Amino acid sequence: MSKNFYITTPIYYPSGRPHMGHAYSSIVADIFARFKRLEGYNVLFLTGTDEHGQKIQKEAEKNNKDPKIFCDDISETFRNLTKTLTLSNNDFIRTTESRHLKSVNEIWNRLINSGDIYLDKYSGWYSVSDEAYYDVEEIEENNGIKVSKTSGSTVEWVEEESYFFRLSEFQKRLLDHYKKNEDFILPKSRKNEVIKFVEKGLKDLSISRTSFSWGIPVPENKKHVIYVWLDALTNYLSALNFPNTKDEKYKSFWPADVHVIGKDILRFHAVYWPAFLLAAKLPLPKRIFGHGWILSDDKKMSKSLGNILDPIEVIKDYGIDQLRYYLIKEVSLGNDGSISMQNLKNCINNDLANNYGNLCQRVFAFIKKNCNNKIPKKIDLNDRDIKLIKNLKDEIPQLIEYINKQNLNEYIKTVINFSFEANKYFNDSEPWALKEKDPDRMCGILNTIVEQIKNISILLNPVLPISTKKVLNTINISDKDILIDNIRKNNNLNCDIELKRLDILFKKIENDN
Ligand code: MSP
Repeated sequence: MSKNFYITTPIYYPSGRPHMGHAYSSIVADIFARFKRLEGYNVLFLTGTDEHGQKIQKEAEKNNKDPKIFCDDISETFRNLTKTLTLSNNDFIRTTESRHLKSVNEIWNRLINSGDIYLDKYSGWYSVSDEAYYDVEEIEENNGIKVSKTSGSTVEWVEEESYFFRLSEFQKRLLDHYKKNEDFILPKSRKNEVIKFVEKGLKDLSISRTSFSWGIPVPENKKHVIYVWLDALTNYLSALNFPNTKDEKYKSFWPADVHVIGKDILRFHAVYWPAFLLAAKLPLPKRIFGHGWILSDDKKMSKSLGNILDPIEVIKDYGIDQLRYYLIKEVSLGNDGSISMQNLKNCINNDLANNYGNLCQRVFAFIKKNCNNKIPKKIDLNDRDIKLIKNLKDEIPQLIEYINKQNLNEYIKTVINFSFEANKYFNDSEPWALKEKDPDRMCGILNTIVEQIKNISILLNPVLPISTKKVLNTINISDKDILIDNIRKNNNLNCDIELKRLDILFKKIENDN
């Protein structure tokens, strides 16, 4: 069995500061990446910035900057955001890097050689903001302005010489692929949207522009720059040292296991990208997962709507683990979800401060006070102790399945329930009443609850990387031992070393109204 796993986020347009929607895509992908590492996989997790195209050129002009210098600046804020979000990415790609240029040229040449590109003239609607072509049926008039029905962004009429990709030739092969590979597009509702779109028939796609210059030139005709989406999608290969298909990275990680994207860019990933790859005679990614939107005032958060929620501000006020937890627990991954500061506060208080945080803190405080600050040995266990641990262990295959199907909501609900259950177990078992009466039994309870804290912390680690590490380090589990296998083993708590100090994990948030 291959133990490699390749996961990507969309690469972000550095046209403005990162917002909560961007943070969401990245956090979701990070959780999968971290979980696969816990399972023992060698994970490559890629993110980056998408720097060419008319949108960026215009934005740079507005700011009176050379586009490359403009991108250098904003790309850096996205790179910094990876740190603020505690992303575990092992690479950050920029489409202005030479490794990417090489790879896009190769893709272009492959498409030329397969006979799938021809020169003609494009006339139709284009949205600079979406960097997308739209058919007449896909646009409407809003206060006298033509806009895309789906994104609401303004479209303009474009007429220019253009290279075309014979997308129309790929309809059948794409439909066959969707049929044969049930989980190629998830969630299911998104897959159905894509199938309907492809079944209506595909038109050839314009893949070069001549009316601006900020992009990768078409190798044989420098008047044209390559369409930014053909350029951008190729990043997933560039990071593997493509075109060198003999390179270890390429051999180990292509095809990608999952491209995590927002539903707004599904068509590009689930229709255009596989068609380009088929034409280039390269294997297709195994999965495209399209998550919903984070809404603010019930609208998609975007710069043009002016309803941006800044993740950095929220993190400053509440903490990164808290934000990560909230986004995963309260927003249903495949669907759109509104977020609110009130819900965030409630979620932090109920699930983190009062539940998981409180559990760890009170158990460790009790051990410090009554057991010389060392985890008591497993002496006298009863059925309830055994069942508590067993229930969680038995659930592991199901939890892995949730993650493999990108069902993060069920995953997190199940895990946090173990924490509620553990709190209840601790209350009901009343170890404080057994100190004198039955110290062996007290030891059994304490050993059990610490083991369960360890197990829960490992499972929560992909979502709460900072806090769970603190908890696990308190009980002398080092970072390299944060693995699912460590849950499966019995009796691996270190009872001979004192517990480390654990500061407050999650501050309770006071309500200001
Ligand atoms: N550059 C392209 C992606 C190229 S991938 C080869 C792009 N960039 S973007 O910066 O506009 O958006 C990137 C992603 O951010 C979206 O696909 C989506 O995943 C995420 N989001 C942006 N706004 C969002 C919300 N309001 N809610 C959730 N995610 C959204 O598209």
